[in-house]
Amino acid sequence: MQDALIAAIREAGRIMRGAHDAARTVTAKPGEANFVTAYDVAVQRFLFSRLGALYPDAAFVGEEDGADDVARLCRGRAFVIDPIDGTTNFMRGFGHSAVSVALCENGEVVLGAVYDPYTDELFYAERGRGARLLRAGESSALRVSGRPLSDGLILFGTSPYYADTRDGTFAAARILFDHALDIRRGGSAALDLCTIAAGRAEVFFEMRLSPWDYAAGMLLVREAGGTVTAPDGAPVPLERPSGILCGNPTAYTEAAALLRQL
Ligand code: IPD
Ligand code: CA
Ligand code: CA
Repeated sequence: MQDALIAAIREAGRIMRGAHDAARTVTAKPGEANFVTAYDVAVQRFLFSRLGALYPDAAFVGEEDGADDVARLCRGRAFVIDPIDGTTNFMRGFGHSAVSVALCENGEVVLGAVYDPYTDELFYAERGRGARLLRAGESSALRVSGRPLSDGLILFGTSPYYADTRDGTFAAARILFDHALDIRRGGSAALDLCTIAAGRAEVFFEMRLSPWDYAAGMLLVREAGGTVTAPDGAPVPLERPSGILCGNPTAYTEAAALLRQL
């Protein structure tokens, strides 16, 4: 089953990579800086159909289905899918976007997979069984880094669809930048979470995201030994949007203490 799921996610990535006219298929969604391309819709349809055949008892929640029934993630078995996380990068040809798929059971994420078709890296985790990086036919364990904040790279997202989070975002970015090595804004929350899981950066935060952005990546970070909460330290819900603060346990603790000062 996992092999078929992974094969489906890789195929979804190939649909993304094959897009040479993405910019011409863009339409605006309601709100600020919120776009969808024909490929977001096509990838989601493909995954709903392929995974639906593999898991006939599962429900599906996707960013592009318009239903936004994220409460469904807390009842029984349900997939939550972001067909293209990093749509703005995707439509500009800025090669940093991913397919994100999580399987939830009664409100717990039990499987998470994030595929970056530009690097051919597939980040995969099952609850209680660790996190792995599958690349070029090889599988290696993922582990968060042990670096403290002072030696840390900070990743952050700007919650571009929510103007009310801007002051808090940049206040947090500033205080963390002052205590860390440097900051980065990549444009894909799912890949930001995988970057923490892989020990390539130390802390990620974003003030408001949706479950399809973080469900898979959150499991990857946890299974790689990291800590994931809302920015105020509260548990991350699956049934509604939430901010995210995560990192290796040392850097996370230092970052959380700084954010409490704001
Ligand atoms: C967005 C990306 C971005 C983050 C936004 C998300 P989308 O997802 O993850 O990095 O800052 O908050 O909505 O719209 O490209 O799927
Ligand atoms: Ca997203
Ligand atoms: Ca998306």
